[in-house]
Amino acid sequence: MAHYAVRESPPLRGEIQVSTSKNAVLPIMCGALLTREDVRIEHPPELTDVHTLASLLSACGCRVRHDQGGLVIAADALKNPDDEDDVRAMRASVLVLGPLLSRLGEARIPLPGGCAIGQRPIDQHLKGMAALGARVTFDHGGVTLRGKLRGAVIYLDMPSVGATENLLMAATLAEGSTRIENAAKEPEIVDLAAFLCSMGAKISGAGTSTICVEGVSALHGTSWTPIADRIEAGTMACACAMTGGELLLRGARADHLRSLLFKLSEAGVHVQDTPGGLMVFGRAKQPFEIRTMVYPGFPTDLQAPMMAVACRTPGTSVFLETIFENRFMHAAELARLGAHIRVENRVAIVEGTPFLTGAPVRATDLRAGAALILAGLCAEGETLVDDGGGHIDRGYVRIEEKLSAVGGNVKRV
Ligand code: EPZ
Repeated sequence: MAHYAVRESPPLRGEIQVSTSKNAVLPIMCGALLTREDVRIEHPPELTDVHTLASLLSACGCRVRHDQGGLVIAADALKNPDDEDDVRAMRASVLVLGPLLSRLGEARIPLPGGCAIGQRPIDQHLKGMAALGARVTFDHGGVTLRGKLRGAVIYLDMPSVGATENLLMAATLAEGSTRIENAAKEPEIVDLAAFLCSMGAKISGAGTSTICVEGVSALHGTSWTPIADRIEAGTMACACAMTGGELLLRGARADHLRSLLFKLSEAGVHVQDTPGGLMVFGRAKQPFEIRTMVYPGFPTDLQAPMMAVACRTPGTSVFLETIFENRFMHAAELARLGAHIRVENRVAIVEGTPFLTGAPVRATDLRAGAALILAGLCAEGETLVDDGGGHIDRGYVRIEEKLSAVGGNVKRV
């Protein structure tokens, strides 16, 4: 739990090392359950979500240890987790379902609660597991899946990232061929598939809407370096777009952020792809319109940071949030800093203003918290971001240090 004291800052200048992707590491950690042999994940990000999942994997009988900058997971003695709290603590825990079912023939998890941004159902995960031959039963707030998995054709009603990842992992050890249609195409899915192939899985089509898997009898251990965090990189690019200046986002990949880079250039921010990472120059000067979509559309996780940019960009910017039903809670907090935002269901209309003023605000989810810190960099006086819920540390590695190192006036208090 932390609070952040943020003050108006000069244009950000310097270099930020982008951390390893949270949304790649979490499914990859679950993928380690698919083998009895050691799996080593290099440079895991120091995030509470990674610690939470590590404790859940330990509750599943795994040995999880840090070793010379890597995370080593040994799942030779696998079992279903006893303690429901570990699973409920974080939505991504649902990703242990596929691996547990594949290895043990039975998996039980509590139905994940909703969260601030939406109801977060797992119906697509369960529909796919049933297609693979699992018998699904619900009781006492949990769901139990039993059965030996056989390959199948699965059609997802919507390209769910988590459901694609869960079903991809389950299919690697299912008997026969599996085809997942209307699959999600996010870079984190491509990274998970490449990781699984390094363990001996037979997967083709990851990154397209149709993924094919040939089941194998067992997977072996591996060592893997996951991709850089495109959402952290995008958040830092938004910080530069607000204060002006010049940032090198070391390790960031332009091909994972094309929708953001196009939007930033529409807004008048220059971005250049270099061998070392992404260079971002200058402040946003023109308003823009954003419709969040599944990849390769504009990522919903960057909607809040881009709304902070819009608050300071002259003109009227418009946001349409199509992925989550309640992901504008940062609007009311930004308004406390003097932003002019009108929210109508899934549409937010932002009138840019050069005059933001500091005030105490509250982080309602991890991306909203980051957006409030960004806004505080451009608000006169002090902005105190209350993150009693510990949201920001779930998804950003020492955000106050990274921003301070390039001139941002941010302190953790
Ligand atoms: C992943 O969540 C990310 N989390 C989220 O990042 C990200 O916002 C989201 O994908 C969309 O890109 C991780 O990767 C750990 P979905 P996930 O399944 O898998 C509905 C962050 O800030 N849906 O693609 O849960 C769901 O309600 C987090 O790092 C169903 O209806 O996303 C939502 O409206 C936040 N039924 C939409 O689909 C299902 O069975 C997208 O969900 C599954 C999902």
